[in-house]
Amino acid sequence: MYTQAMDIPDAATKPAGVSRTPDAQDAAFEARIDADGRIEPQDWMPEAYRKTLVRQISQHAHSEIVGMLPEGNWISRAPSLKRKAILIAKVQDEGGHGLYLYSAAETLGTSRDQMLDALHSGKAKYSSIFNYPTLSWADVGVIGWLVDGAAIMNQIPLCRCSYGPYARAMVRVCKEESFHQRQGYEALLVMMKGSDAQKAMVQDAVNRWWWKCLAMFGPPDADSPHSAQGQRWGIKRISNDELRQKFVDATVPQAEVLGVTLPDPDLKWNEDRQHYDYGQIDWAEFWATVEGDGPCNRERLATRVKAHRDGQWVRDAALAHARKQQERTNKEAA
Ligand code: 3HC
Repeated sequence: MYTQAMDIPDAATKPAGVSRTPDAQDAAFEARIDADGRIEPQDWMPEAYRKTLVRQISQHAHSEIVGMLPEGNWISRAPSLKRKAILIAKVQDEGGHGLYLYSAAETLGTSRDQMLDALHSGKAKYSSIFNYPTLSWADVGVIGWLVDGAAIMNQIPLCRCSYGPYARAMVRVCKEESFHQRQGYEALLVMMKGSDAQKAMVQDAVNRWWWKCLAMFGPPDADSPHSAQGQRWGIKRISNDELRQKFVDATVPQAEVLGVTLPDPDLKWNEDRQHYDYGQIDWAEFWATVEGDGPCNRERLATRVKAHRDGQWVRDAALAHARKQQERTNKEAA
């Protein structure tokens, strides 16, 4: 059978039902996690670990797919052929990321149809950040710089996730995301050398996206129900608050080079902490958006559901073609 695993089952994590008791299986799993080893699809794993991974990887996949929409909105209005080609490639990359991630989640025994049903019925989450509108061309640059910048900060540690297929998918995703971040920053640098109206457009986009990007990292550690276990299992390597701080520290100097002001009067260097202090995130607004009540939640979901329905004939045609090929192969073999 095809597998994404890079190894075959070994003594440490023998498949269930061979000669190990449940306690021994659990101990072998824990020992591998403690030794910072990788868990592969055919290895025994606790149900809670499997469930956590399906939740996180499928939410991540949904975020990539829904994340195509705010920027896709600007493909037909890009200001030059060069910018249009870059944007098309970027949006296509995001679609590809969603597909690697759905494949990684499928190795855990959940079908793509099940994951898509959960998204389309509003049961599954996707990143809060994609429920805000893209009002000007500068938003495309700011999404590249800040949203993809935040995504990379969160996703680099996932390349070391304890679950092999997820970790390997993230290596390629991160390479592409870093191109996305640089193209966004470069587009903004060009605009900041332009007219006053262009500079104002960039500043307006930064004002609207900054706080949403800080919230993207998830609730504060103290209010994050999954963090402790996720870190214990080596799924999450760095906490929500630590990643948020790393993002702020990395972004402030970039904003200075760009010549924009980050919209936070409390943002200042703290000599004692050797980090930037920053103001209060609006968590009520974040949770309302996560729960489906943000500015674009309904529109995003409706667009996704429609795209899926409109694509049904393609899936039907691909299956019919595969059936015909199989019949031909069977006939030739007979
Ligand atoms: N948007 C929506 N929901 C969020 C969220 C956000 N920004 N941050 C947290 N949540 C949800 C969690 O999913 C969880 O909900 P659930 O219990 O229903 O599953 C709840 O809030 C509590 O949060 P926790 O911190 O306890 O949850 P996690 O430990 O899973 O941490 C996470 C949240 C940091 C987002 C983590 O799941 C993660 O690292 N996921 C993988 C990366 C990812 O999904 N990134 C999304 C952006 S992808 C992207 O931006 C695409 C790129 O092209 C730009």
